[in-house]
Amino acid sequence: MRILVTGSSGLLGSAAIRLAIRGGHEVYSAYGNNRPEAGIPLRLDLTALQDIGRAVGRVDPDAIIHAAALTDVDRCERERDLAMRVNAEATAAIASAAREAGAFLVYISTDYVFNGERGLYSEEDEPDPVNFYGYTKLKGEEFVRERAGGYCIARASVIYGAVPASGKANFALWLIDKLGRGEEASVLVDQYISPTLNSSLARMVLEAAERGLEGIYHMAGADRVSRYDFAAKLCEVFGLDASLLKPARMGDMGWVARRPRDSSLDVSKAAGALRGKPLKLIEALRTLRGEFGECSRA
Ligand SMILES: NC(=O)c1ccc[n+]([C@@H]2O[C@H](COP(=O)([O-])OP(=O)(O)OC[C@H]3O[C@@H](n4cnc5c(N)ncnc54)[C@H](OP(=O)(O)O)[C@@H]3O)[C@@H](O)[C@H]2O)c1
Repeated sequence: MRILVTGSSGLLGSAAIRLAIRGGHEVYSAYGNNRPEAGIPLRLDLTALQDIGRAVGRVDPDAIIHAAALTDVDRCERERDLAMRVNAEATAAIASAAREAGAFLVYISTDYVFNGERGLYSEEDEPDPVNFYGYTKLKGEEFVRERAGGYCIARASVIYGAVPASGKANFALWLIDKLGRGEEASVLVDQYISPTLNSSLARMVLEAAERGLEGIYHMAGADRVSRYDFAAKLCEVFGLDASLLKPARMGDMGWVARRPRDSSLDVSKAAGALRGKPLKLIEALRTLRGEFGECSRA
């Protein structure tokens, strides 16, 4: 298949392009400022809405994995026009272009579409975002439903992986680095998530693209944990000193945007439908340890 991946320099996109190339697909790797390491590079600034249709038309893909987004939650709160443009309006343009090209669209969305009052959300639950990032991603979902032909909306939660992407570390890498240097790390005890390993998510979204899996799916890690419990498990698997973890609370963070307290996701629908199942946390962390080792040796 010919697959166009947006956000190919990002945490998910970089894993998705590697996996798709290994799977024998022809991969176009769309990016903004950071040139991706694999695939046929395609610079496509998603704020230039008028360029999107033409660029997609030239590639003429069979499937699009739309992973690009403004993911900095506080920045989305401050720079609302930009967040709306990248996360919602560009998604609308991609959805229209996908239908025009007859391409199946996999849109990567987020647990932050939920308000976090209950947790373990299923695909049937009503979204109710508490911040502007979540609002723009939900708008993106609405545009996909209205405009795309065949589509899958894949919602993930706190993505982590073995290498920095798009010029940034991620929660797991930050911890490994900090604790590895013997420094203390403050970690939230009162925020619950379904941490998602990027390579596992890439496998699930690629399968959705290959099979044209229609509908909304929660594609996240299979365990609900607090950030603190996640960090403690990571210490166990990586042999790091868990006594350096210092419990912190959401109220201490001084964030600009509100965060959901418990945005964990029920992944049973994805587990039933996909060959590449959502991973238990312990399996995901052992996989991460293997991938981390490979990267350090490279
Ligand atoms: N990270 C999480 O914890 C998390 C959790 C749930 C859902 N999600 C969703 O999962 C998807 C992937 O997230 P991620 O963590 O992999 O993202 P990421 O690492 O922050 O990377 C974002 C990607 O979007 C691209 N991008 C941003 N603005 C752009 C623009 N104006 N034009 C073109 N490209 C632009 C970036 O390109 P350049 O770097 O080349 O500029 C980069 O490739 C997103 O849709 C996000 O909403 C993320």
